[in-house]
Amino acid sequence: MNRILIGAQWGDEGKGKIIDLLARKSDIIVRYQGGNNAGHTVKFDDEKFVLHLIPSGILHPGKICVIGNGAVIDPQAFFEEVRVLAAKGVSVKGRLFVSETAHLLFPYHKLMDQLREESFGRRSGMIGTTKKGIGPCYADKMARVGLRVGDLKNPAFFKVRLAQVLAERNEILKKIYRHPGLSFSEIWRQVESYRRELLKFSADTPRYLFEASRKGRSILFEGAQGTMLDVDHGTYPYVTSSNASVGGAITGSGVSPTLIDHVIGVVKAYTTRVGEGPFPSQFPERLMKVIQTKGEEFGSTTGRPRRCGWFDAVIARHAVRINGLDEMAVMKLDVLSGLKEIKIATAYKIGGKLCENYPAAIEEFSKAKPVYETHPGWDEDLSGIRRWKQLPANARRYLKRLETLLATRIKIVSVGSKRAQTIFL
Ligand code: IMP
Repeated sequence: MNRILIGAQWGDEGKGKIIDLLARKSDIIVRYQGGNNAGHTVKFDDEKFVLHLIPSGILHPGKICVIGNGAVIDPQAFFEEVRVLAAKGVSVKGRLFVSETAHLLFPYHKLMDQLREESFGRRSGMIGTTKKGIGPCYADKMARVGLRVGDLKNPAFFKVRLAQVLAERNEILKKIYRHPGLSFSEIWRQVESYRRELLKFSADTPRYLFEASRKGRSILFEGAQGTMLDVDHGTYPYVTSSNASVGGAITGSGVSPTLIDHVIGVVKAYTTRVGEGPFPSQFPERLMKVIQTKGEEFGSTTGRPRRCGWFDAVIARHAVRINGLDEMAVMKLDVLSGLKEIKIATAYKIGGKLCENYPAAIEEFSKAKPVYETHPGWDEDLSGIRRWKQLPANARRYLKRLETLLATRIKIVSVGSKRAQTIFL
């Protein structure tokens, strides 16, 4: 069984916990897009643990993990994670492979990301990125001036190409950002320090995955970010620079769609968003603080507070369609306990017109006023509940309504961060 797990909102849906549950039933876990902008929180020996780049399946002994060609690799972040894992007694040796065609992220990518955000910030239009260099690295990939993991095999070529790219970058840094530029010898020294070590992880991962699938081994594709942050299908330009929706799993791993059996979407029982960009169902300030605190809604990569709001069925429907979701997991239902009433945005009003579908143009989306349906809440603490029937009637009604609005079956409901705090339907 080959499954793709996708975030169906703006990321941070709680995918880490579901990946952890599904990784047990899988042989191979694949990260296929994004880089260390992601943060998948998992529990290890009852300790919370965030992985940014290495698939969280690595915490399961014996599982093979793959970072696909669609991901971007910051070697510093990669080796830092390998070290943290080793300190926890988790060995990656022989269990972790990195695609030889995955692009490498360099210090100039991070610097450009930071400087552009600061400069846009002053003139408005900043995206609120994680400043990890993700956008500039993908831009180089598309502009065909990137360097890939496999290029490390050929240091002479690597050196020439790096020098060319850095010379151009330094011109931009000096002329546009009044920055002195970066030293080639320093970046080259860094490359030399990780070159051989990183090559030990490098593999022809599309062939490996194809052959593994042929042998009946089961693969879990672990999506990062969420559909509304997808560069094509999300709230562009307030998105990340990769395909966080289902297509990214295909192009980002080199695995054919004919080998995929199942696509699972993950949503939170409410909505959150980090960074800039329109968010029609955002809570008023007071409720935002309550849910932020109760739901521990602070970014696992940047620590920024996440904006919180009511469940937005319009964007979730968009995600169901784009990803062809077979089923859904609803996370953090317990956080909504104690609210007198719970709203769901079922449509928008844009310039007085009713709009039931997500409008692609950001100017339209930024004018969207949510049309709410109001449901009665519940007071019961859900964290100890393990069965559907034990859920308060109003919580069941709320979930049933989500199923109807999204025309998708909910198969998992999460009521806490621990593995056991899960209801399977
Ligand atoms: P970037 O991916 O760092 O370029 O950031 C672009 C946008 O995606 C910003 O709004 C970030 O806050 C958001 N973003 C990137 N990664 C994540 C994530 O893992 N969870 C939630 N938002 C993210």
